[in-house]
Amino acid sequence: MAEAGGQQLTHLDELVSLCASRGYISPSSEIYGGINGFWDYGPLGVELKNNVKARWWQRVVRERADVVGMDSAIISHPRTWDASGHTEHFSDPMVDCRACKKRFRADQLEEIGPCSAREGSSEHDLTPPRNFNLMLETRIGASEDAASIAYLRPETCQPIFTGFKRVREAARQKIPFGIAQIGKAFRNEINPRNFTFRSREFEQAEMEFFCHPDEREKWFEHWCEERMRFHRELGFGPDSLRTRAHSADELAHYCKNAVDIEFRFPFGWQEIEGIHDRGDWDLSRHSEYSGKALAVTGEDQKERFMPTVVETSVGIDRLCLALLANAYAVEELEGGESRTVLHLHASIAPIQVAVLPLSKKLAESAHALESGLRRRFNVFYDDAGNIGRRYRRQDEAGTPFCVTYDFDSPEDQQVTVRERDTMKQERIAIEGVAEYLREQLDCAG
Ligand code: GAP
Repeated sequence: MAEAGGQQLTHLDELVSLCASRGYISPSSEIYGGINGFWDYGPLGVELKNNVKARWWQRVVRERADVVGMDSAIISHPRTWDASGHTEHFSDPMVDCRACKKRFRADQLEEIGPCSAREGSSEHDLTPPRNFNLMLETRIGASEDAASIAYLRPETCQPIFTGFKRVREAARQKIPFGIAQIGKAFRNEINPRNFTFRSREFEQAEMEFFCHPDEREKWFEHWCEERMRFHRELGFGPDSLRTRAHSADELAHYCKNAVDIEFRFPFGWQEIEGIHDRGDWDLSRHSEYSGKALAVTGEDQKERFMPTVVETSVGIDRLCLALLANAYAVEELEGGESRTVLHLHASIAPIQVAVLPLSKKLAESAHALESGLRRRFNVFYDDAGNIGRRYRRQDEAGTPFCVTYDFDSPEDQQVTVRERDTMKQERIAIEGVAEYLREQLDCAG
């Protein structure tokens, strides 16, 4: 949680309500009562999400010569999911209550409340567990037969495997190299919960790194370190992140080794990213099911081998939730007042700078400053209400800098810059504001 002092987040409800009121995240189709497991990102939420995705893309793709990107269709040929093992294995055990008709995960029964439909007993009347496939089905075209069934992808990586040969040849990459993609994934979760943590529609940023089987451990270590560094740079403190290796009985059907990066959420330690040794499971299976050779020739031009894969897979929505929970604080101020503040890392804050004229009479010059800054920064202009209240609104939005244009500004050509975390104020020349912000944001990097 935020380390700037003050009371940190212990209950998710406070964050859920801040997110709705400030335009971060709210229930999808809210006017119809919402739809369980689906969320909409508002004006601030979409900026946060886009900043997080851009930073991931920058670190994982653009800064590396050995990773390239792609953007695949959400719907793949249905055989993809037979080959990947999802049709057979991608399920959770579930039970139904015969009385109240609710469905629960069989491995989370300790969390279910009493049955609302049984007189004289609050116990549910549960069916034996059976497996429930989590893939969301849809139909393609006008026909209603079984052949028209397709699935919304439950993970974004499978099109990377089916596209492996094409992308490698087009990008003229040699093993070892990676293919990255960010996009939507869908899972028909039996029990969506904890705000966006477990949703039915969410975004993943995944990177599949193809290497020689002899180098799998080296690359696995490399990517564990890289990914931890990425999260640390976003401002997570030492006590809020940890890694956890999977035990053999937890491993997914495709996985030989896995490490989770976990964040200390208000509801406990939970995974935000998985680093997986997928071996040659996916390429071998797609080779078998498609009849296309996906093995590669080694540097010596003699050896033929199926590359082994190290995967990094982070949920963008979960990461955003972790960032918001980490940033949230309620702080006591002098004079018995308090403020709610999001100490978001400046590089991902939705609004970078707010321009606040002390009076509407100063609008013309303040707007001139605003439009100059808009060329380089995401700017918010606010001239309504007293200045203290305007600062609080920006604190709640997580805006790292506020620039106040006051009655002295036309004379001395200076403005006051207020920094969110320290609340320190500094008077600087108007012509230097853009440079000042650029330096501060670069430092935050
Ligand atoms: N391709 C591997 C894969 O999908 P995963 O552990 O099932 O692995 C990776 O998912 C990440 O995707 C998780 O660490 C989590 O951040 C995110 N994720 C998975 N299911 C999710 C859900 N129902 N809602 C939100 N995010 C989810």
